Amino acid sequence: MFEYAPAPESRDVVDIQPSYGLFVNGEWVDSLGGERHKTINPASEEVLAEFSYAVEADVDRAVTAARKAYDSVWSRLPGRERAKYLFRIARIIQERARELAVLESLDNGKPIRESRDVDLPLVAAHFFYYAGWADKLRYAGFGRGDGLGAEPRPLGVAAQIIPWNFPLLMLAWKIAPALACGNTVVLKPAETTPLTALAFAEICRQADLPPGVVNIVTGAGETGRALVEHPDVNKVAFTGSTEVGRMIARTVAGTRKKVTLELGGKAANIVFDDAALDQAVEGIVNGIFFNQGHVCCAGSRLLVQESVETELLDALKRRLSTLRLGDPLDKNTDIGAINSAAQLDKIRSLSDAGEQEGAERWSAPCPIPDKGFWFPPTLFTGVAQSHRIAREEIFGPVLSVLTFRTPAEAVEKANNSPYGLSAGVWTEKGSRILWMADKLRAGVVWANTFNRFDPTSPFGGYKESGYGREGGRHGLEAYLDV
Ligand code: NAI
Ligand code: MG
Repeated sequence: MFEYAPAPESRDVVDIQPSYGLFVNGEWVDSLGGERHKTINPASEEVLAEFSYAVEADVDRAVTAARKAYDSVWSRLPGRERAKYLFRIARIIQERARELAVLESLDNGKPIRESRDVDLPLVAAHFFYYAGWADKLRYAGFGRGDGLGAEPRPLGVAAQIIPWNFPLLMLAWKIAPALACGNTVVLKPAETTPLTALAFAEICRQADLPPGVVNIVTGAGETGRALVEHPDVNKVAFTGSTEVGRMIARTVAGTRKKVTLELGGKAANIVFDDAALDQAVEGIVNGIFFNQGHVCCAGSRLLVQESVETELLDALKRRLSTLRLGDPLDKNTDIGAINSAAQLDKIRSLSDAGEQEGAERWSAPCPIPDKGFWFPPTLFTGVAQSHRIAREEIFGPVLSVLTFRTPAEAVEKANNSPYGLSAGVWTEKGSRILWMADKLRAGVVWANTFNRFDPTSPFGGYKESGYGREGGRHGLEAYLDV
C-alpha cells in the first residue's frame, strides 16, 4: 500500500459565524423563543456554530413571508425572469463552490473529494437545469399547459424538509424546481447540518432574490412538524426516514396539501457471473461506501451469483483494505466521519444484531481516529433474507452479502424488501439488463454503474421508499397545479 502525505484542503475559505438567526423575508431574524443549539464537526466534535430551533411563531412568520412574496411578486413574474434569478444562483454556487464544499465537509463529515467533486457540481447543475425549464413550463406536457400559450400554475407556498446526508444537494433538489415553477418556499435543514443552508440564504441575498421567495428556518423535528401542519402551506416535500414520512402522510391526509416523500431504501446491487468483476468491485464500493453509506439509494445488499462469490469477495476485501478513513478535509480521504453520535449508535446496534443473528462480520483494518464518530467499511457474509441487516436501512458503511443461482432468484430476492428506491445490475449481457430492469420494483435501476445522478433524470421510489419524483421533467409535476 502507498503512503500518502497529508493533503488537507484549507478551511480558511469558509467564514463561519459564531451564531445564526433564521432567514425570513430576506432578513436575518432572531427566533421568537426557540432554544439555541450547536452544530459540530463530526470528525472532531468541535463546535462550529450556534443556531436556533425555530418555534411555531417563527414558522408562521416564514410562511407569511413566503405567501406575501408568492402573491405579490414571484407567481406574477414571467418564467424568463424567474430563470434569470435561478441562473444567477447557479453561477454564484459555482463561484463559491470551494467554500461551500469545505463548509459541507466540516458540518457533515463527508470527504472533501465527494463534496467538491460530487455534491457541489450537482448542486449547481440542478439550478442550471431547472433555470432552463422556468420559461418552458407550457411545453412540459402537464395540465393546463396546452403548448400554445397557457402556462401551468404553481401551487403556492412549499414547505420543504431535508435530511443531513446531502444537505446542500437536497436543498437544491427541493428549491430549484419549486422556484422554477413559480412557488415560494420555507425550507428546514436537518439539525446536525444547518450551515450550508444558512450559507445559501446569503447566496439568495447576493442574487437579489426578492425577499420572502426563499425562507430558511432551522430546527429539529418539532420545527418540521410545525411547518408541515401550517394551514397556509400548499405543498410538502420531505426527504428522510420512512417513520417521519409516515407521520407526515398522516398529518396532510384530508387536507388539500400536495405531498412528495423520498424515504429510505435497501437497494440490491446484483452481480452476475459474467460481469467484469473488477469494475463491479468499484461499483460495489461506490454503491455502499460513498458518503459513509449515508445514502437512501445505497447498494446496501450485495446479491452475488454463487459461482463467483469467493472471487468477488476476495477482490472486494482487498479493495476495501486500501480505503483511507480519516480527516474529511484531506483530499486523499475516501471514508469520512459518521454524521452524528446517534447515527453511529444505530449503525453499531444493527451491526451487532447482524452478528447475533448469525452473519459473519468483516471490517477493513483501518485505524480509527480518537475523536469524532467513525465506523470502518464493513461487510457481512452468511446473511439470510430474514436478518435485520438484510431488511432494515442501516444508513452506514455496512454491506450485507447474499447469494443467488438464477436470474429469477436474483429478482425474487431483490424485490423481497419493503423498500423500492434503486437497484444495480452487473452483467455483460444487454438483454439480461433489460429483463432485470423490467422486473425490479425500484425507481432507478443502474446497469454496470451505481449512484450515478443527473438533474435531467427523475428519482424516487416505490412502496415504503415514498412517492413522487424529483429531478427531470417529472420533477416539475410536484410543483405545478396539474
Ligand atoms: P429524520 O427523518 O428524523 O430526519 C429528516 C428530517 O426530518 C430532518 O430535517 C428532521 O429534523 C425532520 N423531522 C424529524 N421529525 C419530524 C417531524 N415529526 N415532522 C417533520 N419533520 C421532521 O431522520 P434521522 O432521525 O435523521 O435519521 C434516522 C434514519 O432515517 C437514518 O438512520 C436513516 O435510516 C433514515 N434517513 C433516510 C434518509 C434518506 O435520504 N432517505 C435521510 C436521513 C435519514
Ligand atoms: Mg454538524
